[in-house]
Amino acid sequence: MMRAALLHACGAAPAVGDRAVPVPADDEILVRVTAASITPLDLLCASGTSYFGVPATPYVPGVQGVGVRDDGTAVWFPTTAGMRPGDGSLAEYAAVRAADTVALPDGVDHQLIAALGLSAVAAQLALTWRGELRPGERVLVLGAGGVVGQAAVRLALLAGAGTVIAAARSAAARQRAAQAGAAVVVPLEDGDDVARLAARLRAAAGGPVDLVLDPLFGIPAAAALRTLRPGGRLVNLGGAAGETAPLDSATLRAGSLRILGYTNNELTSVQRSEALTLIAAHAAAGRLTVDHETVRLHDIATAWHRTDRRIVVIL
Ligand SMILES: NC(=O)c1ccc[n+]([C@@H]2O[C@H](COP(=O)([O-])OP(=O)(O)OC[C@H]3O[C@@H](n4cnc5c(N)ncnc54)[C@H](OP(=O)(O)O)[C@@H]3O)[C@@H](O)[C@H]2O)c1
Repeated sequence: MMRAALLHACGAAPAVGDRAVPVPADDEILVRVTAASITPLDLLCASGTSYFGVPATPYVPGVQGVGVRDDGTAVWFPTTAGMRPGDGSLAEYAAVRAADTVALPDGVDHQLIAALGLSAVAAQLALTWRGELRPGERVLVLGAGGVVGQAAVRLALLAGAGTVIAAARSAAARQRAAQAGAAVVVPLEDGDDVARLAARLRAAAGGPVDLVLDPLFGIPAAAALRTLRPGGRLVNLGGAAGETAPLDSATLRAGSLRILGYTNNELTSVQRSEALTLIAAHAAAGRLTVDHETVRLHDIATAWHRTDRRIVVIL
């Protein structure tokens, strides 16, 4: 038997309990888990309200993790917990598809890789693949104090962006965005309307922006569109500020703008693996980090619904 986080009821926090050590299928390997994060996707799946449907309970949540193979190699791995039947990463052991594991550099910080994980993959590929970021371009990152946002600020600079402007809500989030390397950090206020926020973003940017990285949608996305140069792009990968946004036709058509959607679910295993390998190399070299807090497995119930910062569970 092993210790595991067990989600008994959708919407509630998991409890710690005993679970049989999983037996890997033919295409799987057993990984001894060292660290796994709690992400918005985990909460969405465990709420029972995601577009993947209501998961059968009890199950072990955790859509990604870091651990060690039986030959001692450190790996990052994804799971489909909460999206398809089966257990995830928040347990002492996980059975994972061998082809989906990504070998990590020697000595890399497992907790940092767990914190970055798929959030950083989304930031990297939304910028460079979907967003076609070019060296020297000016990038505006919305929600830049979140994990996707912090990673996007740093990864845009590492990919050669000329300037990164950030926008974030709380004081703590603005500080995280500045630490990630944003040249200017614009506050997002609760009472903002599109015109007022657009004016503030344009003044801070000091010139047209080429690419917006948008995990928020809602009013911030509508305002950010008004900062783009003609032909500029906005890549949306989340709806933290709203499922809908008050976009105006005049802004869109006058600038021939492009609004693009992004999801990690579209990636091939190779794309995901290559992005994670790059992220792990940046992290191992000290070029990429993200704010996070570690908790032990027995504290998972109190940590589960926290949204103030990324929580990494150590096993
Ligand atoms: N498409 C994909 O493949 C993909 C992959 C990863 C993540 N995502 C999505 O991207 C979003 C961000 O993910 P994350 O991992 O960065 O989450 P996170 O670390 O929890 O960050 C969320 C950020 O959103 C901000 N926020 C929340 N509500 C807001 C509002 N009403 N106005 C302005 N800012 C608001 C928060 O600001 P404060 O810090 O001020 O509270 C926080 O910084 C989530 O919706 C997630 O589901 C999508």
